[in-house]
Amino acid sequence: MTMGQTDLFSAAGEGAPDADAATRRAVRAAAAEGLLRADKRLPAWLLYDARGSALFEEITELPEYYPTRTERAILAAHAGEMIEAAGLPVAVAELGAGTASKTRLLLAALLERQPRAVYVPIDVSPTALAIAEHALARFAGLAVHPMVGRYPEDLAVLDAIPGRRLLLFLGSNLGNYDPQPAAALLAAVRSHLRPGDAFLIGTDLRKAGGVLVPAYDDAAGVTARFNKNVLVRLNRELGADFDPQAFRHLVRWNSAASRVELYLQSARDQQVHLRALDAAVRFTAGERIHTESSYKFTRAGLRALFRGAGFRWERSWEDPRRWFAMHLLRVPARALR
Ligand code: TRP
Repeated sequence: MTMGQTDLFSAAGEGAPDADAATRRAVRAAAAEGLLRADKRLPAWLLYDARGSALFEEITELPEYYPTRTERAILAAHAGEMIEAAGLPVAVAELGAGTASKTRLLLAALLERQPRAVYVPIDVSPTALAIAEHALARFAGLAVHPMVGRYPEDLAVLDAIPGRRLLLFLGSNLGNYDPQPAAALLAAVRSHLRPGDAFLIGTDLRKAGGVLVPAYDDAAGVTARFNKNVLVRLNRELGADFDPQAFRHLVRWNSAASRVELYLQSARDQQVHLRALDAAVRFTAGERIHTESSYKFTRAGLRALFRGAGFRWERSWEDPRRWFAMHLLRVPARALR
């Protein structure tokens, strides 16, 4: 691993599209695709603008929202084992890093075993990445290279990282994808890794609806504000005229599909204009926009998903209540069959 950090990232950056222009186009396309149809929906990544990312940080500290603190406890107990299981030396990259607050536990464990390391956090939110970079500045020996991007679109960023890679995908972010896109995302990730690379993924597990629903419908109303913020974003970025007060935050546990569903439900008949799309969208009273799903996994389902994407499962770690699981996967030398 001799490539210097400048070489490494000028290679990745060359010809890379301006992130902001790309984001603007993606927001327009998402609104056009999701709102000008009968079953209205918006993609989850739209939730994470600067305000959305800040609200999400608040969510992670809510008493009802158990996933972050559960995953953090697993990391606090096992980060050293995880790093050793990944195999050293290793360069770390992370999908949906956010502010990387849990990742610090892994990076600290890594730097105890390897004096110098590269960390490439990838996220849609430049503000979250700036916080991550600032917090990691005191980690001596760590070269941090934040990348604003989405996945699977921008996974090619990984190609420029030399040596063995440990890719992180924490926070049960996989659960925000429907089954087919989730399988496709894992396969795309696999195609950008090399034999011997490790993939550490955190997944929320199926549990009682009475625990799940409050995690997405907290008493303080932070998740409601987070959900409605997508409308504020469309107002600002697409010149729309949504009245966030005219929509209700709605959460359902869909047991058959094993997912928590988040909606914004129109409180009345109304019409909204999207200036950038030169379009009007009608809502009837009670009509919903599906803004997110959070799938809750079974161990057997996960094993099949990992294997289907060409990963070899090596180890899992869970909390004592068995609410959340982290898995170390490997890219095998030869394709699995
Ligand atoms: N990956 C997180 C999850 O599914 C994201 C998340 C938490 C979230 N709370 C949310 C997304 C509320 C939208 C709304 O648990």
